[in-house]
Amino acid sequence: MKVFIGSAEQVAKEAAKRYVELLNKKPNAVLGYATGSTPLGLYSELIRLNQAGAFSYKEATTFNLDEYVGLDGSHDQSYRYFMNENLFNHVDIDKSRTFVPSGLDTSAETAAAYDEAIEKAGGIDIQLLGIGNNGHIGFNEPGTPFSSKTHMVELTQNTREVNSRFFKSIDEVPTHAVTMGVKTVMNAKSIILIALGKAKAPIIRETIMGEVTPEVPASVLQLHPFVEIYLDEEAASLL
Ligand code: F6R
Repeated sequence: MKVFIGSAEQVAKEAAKRYVELLNKKPNAVLGYATGSTPLGLYSELIRLNQAGAFSYKEATTFNLDEYVGLDGSHDQSYRYFMNENLFNHVDIDKSRTFVPSGLDTSAETAAAYDEAIEKAGGIDIQLLGIGNNGHIGFNEPGTPFSSKTHMVELTQNTREVNSRFFKSIDEVPTHAVTMGVKTVMNAKSIILIALGKAKAPIIRETIMGEVTPEVPASVLQLHPFVEIYLDEEAASLL
């Protein structure tokens, strides 16, 4: 694992460089994207660089990690909506090649089709990850088998509480999500995990220095050959 530590701004700039390098070398790259607060700085930087002509998304394909069950893409808390608002609407991407799991069709067939679509596209070149305070990656909560592919999950009470900051009340936070599995994530050719803020410091320590166990889903990243972890000083404070 390579670990980069800097300010949140430096993290966004350094991580963005990986995308610029990749897309200039391989314009039809396949990118795995994430939602939440963590990637916002990176997405702003990617928008800036894309608009400045540093790289193009024209031939790229994207697959997002997860989506809330029950939310249509037009719902302002759906992850499809988030991606459109925070990245896709501002760059030269072909939206028909941007994929987010369906929050409405939660069948096992549709979940399997998501993994197949990733494989058919050639596999993910860079998978972006945030991390939950409990070590979740995507919505793979503690205990999820490392062999899991895209599937529907029940969100933990803790995850719903943490994410209720985006909703009017916790009752509105969906109880389930569809997420790429741990195996789907590990199949990516390279992985960038970003963590910002003090609240992430204990789980970052466990992820990097602790035992590899499904109880800390992100610890599986110790087994991947190409992982870069970008941390601000607060998230790195317990290393
Ligand atoms: C988002 C996702 C989640 C988040 C994690 C951290 O697509 O899969 O694993 O990355 O919950 O969220 P933030 O960035 O809001 O702290």
